[in-house]
Amino acid sequence: MKIVMLGAPGAGKGTQAIKIAEKYGIPHISTGDIFRANIKGGTELGMKAKAYMDKGELVPDEVTIGMLLDRIKEADCGNGYVLDGFPRTIPQAESLTAALEKMGDKIDFALDIEVPDEAIVKRMGGRRACPKCGATYHIEFAPPAKEGICDKCGAELIIRSDDKPETVKERLDVYHKQTEPLIRYYRGAGVLRGVDGTKELESVFQDLVSILEA
Ligand code: AP5
Ligand code: MG
Repeated sequence: MKIVMLGAPGAGKGTQAIKIAEKYGIPHISTGDIFRANIKGGTELGMKAKAYMDKGELVPDEVTIGMLLDRIKEADCGNGYVLDGFPRTIPQAESLTAALEKMGDKIDFALDIEVPDEAIVKRMGGRRACPKCGATYHIEFAPPAKEGICDKCGAELIIRSDDKPETVKERLDVYHKQTEPLIRYYRGAGVLRGVDGTKELESVFQDLVSILEA
């Protein structure tokens, strides 16, 4: 099963992608997480990505596409994967489609989590992230058992550097201009499914599972 998660920044792509990956035993591949791991590790790729991410802009396609296409060739991707945060531009989607076509393959589902911009701003303000394992929390909607500590790995939670209100606004603008056109792209491919992302996170997950198992 090959799945693409669509939705604005903060719509809940990461939250739901992790649950889907766990349920179906497939890897969760987040380009944002890969960039953040590289920033933390001080790699050249990380340095390059950081300049864009801190401004809320997209990392150039030349950097991102090759990185993702290499990742999906790894052995753990044999039974499929959940892509979170990729594709994010039409050229990224076209490259992915072309690479899969070469292998006689395709994306099975593009799951769009629909949340209006006003709700997004509130979510980002309360988000806390685990820098070690990538788990995501919200101080009000999905708090960890012990304040400030990751339930899964015990690391100290952080506020992402791009969750500042000004940067969130820029990320939403970039989303509407560059990423939202993918909804049409995947509708055209016949694989788009939308869910109401304003519901409580467990019911959003149930709606997604119903789509995947229909
Ligand atoms: P990335 O890490 O992908 O960030 P994003 O798309 O902006 O999305 P987020 O991770 O902020 O949100 P999410 O949808 O995963 O929501 P979450 O589950 O955390 O990318 C970061 C940057 O990297 C980009 O800006 C760009 O610079 C670069 N980049 C990455 N990929 C790229 C690409 N392909 N090309 C170019 N550049 C790229 O949820 C948000 C909060 O809400 C959490 O606190 C959560 O607990 C809470 N929440 C979730 N669901 C619910 C619910 N139903 N009800 C209430 N609260 C909820
Ligand atoms: Mg995310």
